[in-house]
Amino acid sequence: MTVVGPFGLSVQDRDLTRDVQAGLDAVEAALAETVKSDVPFITVTASHLIEAGGKRFRPLLLLLAAQFGDPGAPGVVPAAVVVELTHLATLYHDDVMDEAPVRRGGPSANSRWDNSVAILTGDFLFSRASQVLADLGPEAVRMQAEAFERLVTGQIMETRGPGPDVDPLLHYLDVLAGKTGSLIAVSCRIGAQAAGAEPWVVETLGDFGERIGIAFQLADDVLDIASDGDESGKTPGTDLREGVPTLPTLLLRQMPADPADEADTRLRELLDQDLSDDALHAEALRLLRRHPALERARRETLRQAEEARALLAPLPDCPAKAALEGLCDSVAIRTM
Ligand code: IPE
Ligand code: IPE
Ligand code: MG
Ligand code: MG
Repeated sequence: MTVVGPFGLSVQDRDLTRDVQAGLDAVEAALAETVKSDVPFITVTASHLIEAGGKRFRPLLLLLAAQFGDPGAPGVVPAAVVVELTHLATLYHDDVMDEAPVRRGGPSANSRWDNSVAILTGDFLFSRASQVLADLGPEAVRMQAEAFERLVTGQIMETRGPGPDVDPLLHYLDVLAGKTGSLIAVSCRIGAQAAGAEPWVVETLGDFGERIGIAFQLADDVLDIASDGDESGKTPGTDLREGVPTLPTLLLRQMPADPADEADTRLRELLDQDLSDDALHAEALRLLRRHPALERARRETLRQAEEARALLAPLPDCPAKAALEGLCDSVAIRTM
């Protein structure tokens, strides 16, 4: 068994290992090339997060999906560049929205420069992604545009919060499917399509991508609480600080309060407050890490990853299918 790429994909098959690693290397080279600008400052700002690393999860899924057709087809690597550039652009914008100081283990663009530079660099990356996308044909353009609309809608819905008559948990799951499921789904779809896979295979992989994308974001939300920041490369507790409810706090709200449990009572009190104060924020994070709601959220993440795995069943057995099945395990228990 070999481990491939920064996400640490475990692959049993030697040919698949070679193919995926070669694909990821080609994506890396193309990313660096694609963000070069005639304006040297833009090259620096646009390369900032690419050079900082990242898991390249979307290109990895796209390359695996391409295995269900001809993985050497000319559109495959450019499609992977498009999804990673789109993702990158949303990270530049998301860190402005979340006032996040750290990303991929280094300063976010908004903290290295300022919000304007971060937002405009995100726009620059979108425009470069669109230029690469244009060569992949109108169907790919449409798929990516629809996914992007859902992503932005998810981000806006998260900012707005659920309306008074909307169940907060259902709202949250809708937000997740939009802001994260959409782009991961389209990564699988475009990969399979660029490789010339049969339409039902493209659809099946797209449905799988949506579901594993939701599990991926659930795991991210658990990590926001549970990680120490060294591995995740982000500041822990950002969602709490920003007052964004995620699965652990939503599940906590569904659990009956236990007046005999001081920690539970205090945590509920804190979650009703503004947590921008460092000491209160640290206290809430410490209590939430020990609260049973966090374990419940972990179990729900595993359940969603299992649902994703089940969606792969109709696909023909092959090393790429085994690798995708393996990804379902690693996504749910990931630490980065
Ligand atoms: C972070 O995505 C934003 C989410 C949708 C959870 P990743 O966890 O894929 O971030 P990088 O690309 O590895 O930095
Ligand atoms: C953002 O979700 C998802 C997108 C960038 C579309 P989060 O706000 O949870 O992502 P992180 O934790 O900052 O990476
Ligand atoms: Mg964020
Ligand atoms: Mg997060």
